[in-house]
Formats: sequence, structure tokens, C-alpha cells
Amino acid sequence: MHRNSKSPPSTFLSSGIFPALMIAGVYGYFLLFSQFAFLEIVHTRVADDVKIKIVLACMAIGGLLGGFTVLKWQNPRSLRIGMCGCALAALLALLPLGLIGLAAISFFMGVSLGTTTVSLAGLLPGCLRGANRCQWAGIGTGLGYALCNVPTLFQSSPSQQAVITCGMMGVALLASFFVAWDAPAQKSMQEISYRWWLIVVAFFALVWMDSAAFYVIQHAPDLKKATWGGEMLWRNAGLHFFSAWIAGLLLDRKKMRQVIISAVMILALASWWVNEESTRYLTGWCYPIGVSLYSTALIAWPGLIAGSLGSWQRAAWVFGIAGWIGSGQGIGMAENLQRLPSWFIIVALAVVIATLTSGNGKKSWWRRALLMVMGGVFFLSQKYDLRESSNDAIERGKNVYVAEGCIHCHSQYLRPGSIDESYWGESQQWEKIISAQPVLIGNRRQGPDLTNIAGRRSAVWLREHFIEPRQFNPNSSMPSYGYLFEDNRGNDLIAYLQADVGRSMNDSLARSAAWTGFPDDDRNVDLALGKKLFDEHCSVCHGLTAMGDGVMAQKFMKPPANLRAGPFSWSAIRPDENHEVTLQRIVRFGIPGTDMPGHETWTAEQVKSVAAYLLQLREN
Ligand code: HEC
Ligand code: HEC
Repeated sequence: MHRNSKSPPSTFLSSGIFPALMIAGVYGYFLLFSQFAFLEIVHTRVADDVKIKIVLACMAIGGLLGGFTVLKWQNPRSLRIGMCGCALAALLALLPLGLIGLAAISFFMGVSLGTTTVSLAGLLPGCLRGANRCQWAGIGTGLGYALCNVPTLFQSSPSQQAVITCGMMGVALLASFFVAWDAPAQKSMQEISYRWWLIVVAFFALVWMDSAAFYVIQHAPDLKKATWGGEMLWRNAGLHFFSAWIAGLLLDRKKMRQVIISAVMILALASWWVNEESTRYLTGWCYPIGVSLYSTALIAWPGLIAGSLGSWQRAAWVFGIAGWIGSGQGIGMAENLQRLPSWFIIVALAVVIATLTSGNGKKSWWRRALLMVMGGVFFLSQKYDLRESSNDAIERGKNVYVAEGCIHCHSQYLRPGSIDESYWGESQQWEKIISAQPVLIGNRRQGPDLTNIAGRRSAVWLREHFIEPRQFNPNSSMPSYGYLFEDNRGNDLIAYLQADVGRSMNDSLARSAAWTGFPDDDRNVDLALGKKLFDEHCSVCHGLTAMGDGVMAQKFMKPPANLRAGPFSWSAIRPDENHEVTLQRIVRFGIPGTDMPGHETWTAEQVKSVAAYLLQLREN
């Protein structure tokens, strides 16, 4: 299947630009679509955690299957078929499908992506040759990561991202036609004497740590803001690009071990620093560097570094074991944690360093330095453990709640069978409430009940609301608690309010999904009322003209939607439902899991009027 190249690559640029474009397209697709947009799409269509896991498991199974099946073919055509499959999967995900449909697409995407990645890594030694080969792999990897961090791409809606990543695959596919596929001449460029499975183990630990860290960051809005907030995206893009490039340069100089060990140490530091408010900004610098370093090694190792002989097999194993299983493990483990436990970071670090420093006879300064750093890191971890755990924060937050007298205005008790349940969700068992220490039923209800608050208000919203309640509600009688954020009390209070986030989020999602609209009554909608409420309650985020540019818009991870022109992720017109009901549902319940708050206690007239006002904005 390989054909000989017509002429040897002449210039630096022509020697690697097309392979680099292929790598960039495939990485970009993987990061922005498979790992990001697709997950968001799944979350908007299936609310249940177990079902989401099923969909994701289908992708991993598909990935393994595709990656190992393609070993039978081993030619550029398998790469192109895989790429077409990926592009198609992105478009299919736009269809309004339910659980089965999504699971099928997820599986199909997994198979295509498995095929594509293994083929790409297996074919690279045939099309990237010479002393700059890893550098080009680095440029491709860096470009892929950098693209995903470009703010307009990162912040566009999942469906737009699906289309964009389909385009990225298209570019990669196109590039594959300009590449001179050669039967790789070099037998083996093996420069490191490790057994291949040791490297697979090292990558496994790296991917595990990376996925766990990424998951924790992305699911804790305050962490996410400190590391991926709007302005930081450009910086991240630059860091990704240059560190991947540098990784490539080092790999060309046979510094694989150094690259991987630096990557794991930098990622370990990033994981530690993210747990502490005062050091969190450092994570934003480290994480992109660590990830780019190892990602370049990951794509270059099977063929470019370890040698073309057996490159396909190595690719299948390393992407299968490290990529699919490692990331699944990392996400699974991180799911219920607010932070990365230090024992875990140490284990991952130790595994990577042990695998890479074993089996090589001579002693080096490098290894001795490493052992010392490991010792230091271990010591640090002990210190951190004594100082902080998320349970402590919750406990401290409860004390803040009591000390600040929140109970004078807020209850934490929903009366069963009363209107409370239609506002805030199911009441909880009485025994559980009165066995709490101290009992926090509350003695007056000036503001809303706070039982399920974590399901309907994001951490960012809570913080901003504490600082200035009247930004969101001009008539609020809640005092400002901005002073709590001068030290850690504010964050502790939020940790306390969010302690129950898993259960209350499920409750909110289920109630919102089950709601079918207000019972018909003849009350008129009042567009003037709708506009007034919008100006008072929505404009801080969505802007007075509803273009998504309110004064607070920059504070959120995902900017508030432009409610005139879209793009609409959550309120796109659905064929199976009255569009007004969709809008009413969003106004009433918000969008659980995002920064968009609900307005649970509004009357039917208020909700309907705002929804009607939104519809009118869209039509103009
Ligand atoms: C003087 C009475 C008062 C005090 C004291 C008070 N709040 Fe409030 N709170 C309100 C009112 C009224 C609202 C509804 C209006 C608004 O959203 O600002 C509210 C809203 C809230 C909300 C949003 C709830 C929702 O469903 O929208 C949260 C969360 C909250 N308060 C938490 C607290 C906490 C925690 C404290 C103690 C630090 C506290 N409040 C102290 C009166 C109070
Ligand atoms: C605290 C800021 C904030 C406030 C206040 C707020 N929103 Fe939002 N809203 C958001 C954010 C952020 C999103 C995007 C959520 C996402 O996609 O992650 C959003 C999304 C939406 C959407 C879905 C658009 C789509 O993508 O289909 C609608 C509709 C909406 N808001 C209407 C309103 C209305 C009406 C109000 C007032 C009653 C309001 N919002 C108040 C932040 C806010």
C-alpha cells in the first residue's frame, strides 16, 4: 500500500507541514469534540448519570475495538476512512437523538477515532523523516491544543463546536492527500532501552492523572474560572503551542525520558496547586505545559521515537490502554472528589518515574535529582493533607452559616406536600433534619429555602450573589456578605452550600425535565412586565439588549447566551415541544449545572411574560 515518494522533502516547511496538519486536526477533534462538546451534548439530552456513563463507555469500547481492528490493514486508507467516520460522527451528534441514538454515535465515534489515532501514529514514520520529525509532531500537537483554546472556539456552543471539529477533521483528511507516504526506511530508531510495555504503563499513569485533574477543574466552577477563565484562554493557547514545540525539539535530541518526567512532575505540581486558593493561578500555568509535553511524546513515541517497526502495535496498545482506559479511570476516580487526593498524585508520579528510571544500567545525576524532588514532593503532600480536606471546608462553612445568622432569614426545611416542593424540590426525611448538629431548620423565611440550593445555583453565582445580592434582584433584602471573601470564609460557606451537589443536581434536572408547563389559565402574558423583569433580573448577565454582554458576562466560564441571535444550545426550537414551554422551563428552573439561575418562585404570569418577551426578541 505504501508508495514511494516522488522526491525527497526539500525544505524544512515542506518536510512536515502536512503531517503536522493531520496531527493538529486529529488532536483538535479529539479535545474539542470527543472530550468536550460531545459530553455537553450528551448532558443536555440525557439527565441521568448512569445513562451518561453508558454513553461514554460506548465510546471507550469503540475506541479499543477500532484501534486493535485496524492492525489488520495498516495503510493510509484506514486513516482516511477513520477520519471520515469521525467527521460524520460530529455531524450525526447534531440530530435530536435520545439515549440509544447517542450511545450508537458514541460507539461509532470511538471506533473511528481509535482507527484514526492508531493509523496516524503508525503511519507517521512513513511520512515524517529526518532530524526534525518529532519537532513537526510537536508543532502539530501544539497547534491542535492551541486551536481548542482560542476563545471563540472554546466558548461557542456545543453544536457549533461539532461543526468546527468536523471541519478540522476535513482539513486533516485533505492534508493526508498531500503527504508523501513512504515505506519507512529506518528499521529502528530505538534509542531507549525500555521495554515497550513500561512506556505504556508510564503513559497510562500520565493520562490518568491528567484526566482526573481536568475533570476536577472543569467541574468545580471556581477552579475552572481561576484556570480557564475567559482572558486566560489565549495564554493557555500560547503555552500549549510552545511547550509542545519544545517537547518535539527535545524528542529529536533523544530526550524522551526527560520530557516525560518533566511532564509528570509539572502535572503533579499543577494538581497540588489547584487545591489551594492562593496557589491556584499557578495551576493555570503548569497544566497546559505538562499536558503538551506528554501529548507530544504520546503521538511521537510509537513510530517516531521507538522506531517504525511495530509502530502500529505500539500505537494500538498505548492509545488503548493509556488513552481509553486511563482516561476512563481518571474521570471515574475524580467524579466524586472535589480535589485530587495527594496519595493519588504520588502514586502516579512514582509509577512514571519508576518505569522510566528502571532497566537502564548507568546512574545519572538526573535520576538522583529526581529522587530528591520526589522526596520533597512527598513531604509537601503530607503538609497539605494535614491542612486541608474538602470535608473540613464544609464543616467550617457550616460554622460560618451559623455565625452569620443566615438562619434568621433562611430555612432548610421543605414542608412536605406544600407549595415548597414545587419551588425547591422534594422534602427530606424529618429524622435526618433534626439529627443534624446543630439543627438548621431556620426560624424565619425571608429568603428562599436553601435545601437543594446546590442543584439550582452555581458556585460562581453564589459568590457574586453574596458579594452583591441586588445585582441579581434589585428588591433583595439580603445583606451583602462581600467581607467573607476577604479570607477563606466565603469559599467555605460555598463549599457548605454545595456539599450535596450530586443529589440536588439530579433532583433539579429531573424536576426541570418533568415539568410540562403551567396549567392553562386565561391570564394574559404582559410583554411590558416581561421586559421589566428581564431588565431587573436577567440583564446583569445577558445585557440590557439581550446580546449576552451584561456587566457580569465576563465572570462566567461560558458567557451568557445572546438571546436575540443565538447560538442557542438549550432553547433551540424543538419539534416535539411547544417552544414557549421550553423557554418557560429555562426561566423557571434555570439550567442546572450551568451558571444560569432559575426563578423558582415566580408566578405563572411572570414566567410566561418573560418567555414571551424572549420569543419576541428572537423574532425581531
Ligand atoms: C435579612 C435576611 C437575609 C439574611 C440575613 C440572609 N439572606 Fe440570603 N436571601 C434573603 C432574601 C430576601 C433572598 C431572596 C432575594 C435574593 O435572591 O437576593 C435571599 C437569597 C439567598 C440565596 C439565593 C437563594 C435562591 O434560591 O435564589 C442564597 C443562596 C442565600 N440567600 C444565602 C444566604 C446565606 C448563606 C446567608 C448567611 C450568610 C444569607 N443568605 C443571609 C435574605 C437574607
Ligand atoms: C447569573 C447570570 C445569568 C442570569 C442572571 C441569567 N442568565 Fe440566562 N444564561 C446565563 C448563562 C451563563 C447561560 C449559558 C449557559 C450555558 O450554555 O452554559 C444562560 C443561558 C440562557 C438561556 C439559554 C440560551 C440557549 O443557549 O438556548 C436562556 C433562554 C436564558 N439564559 C434566559 C435568561 C432569562 C430570561 C433570565 C432572567 C429571567 C436569565 N437568563 C438570567 C447566565 C444568566
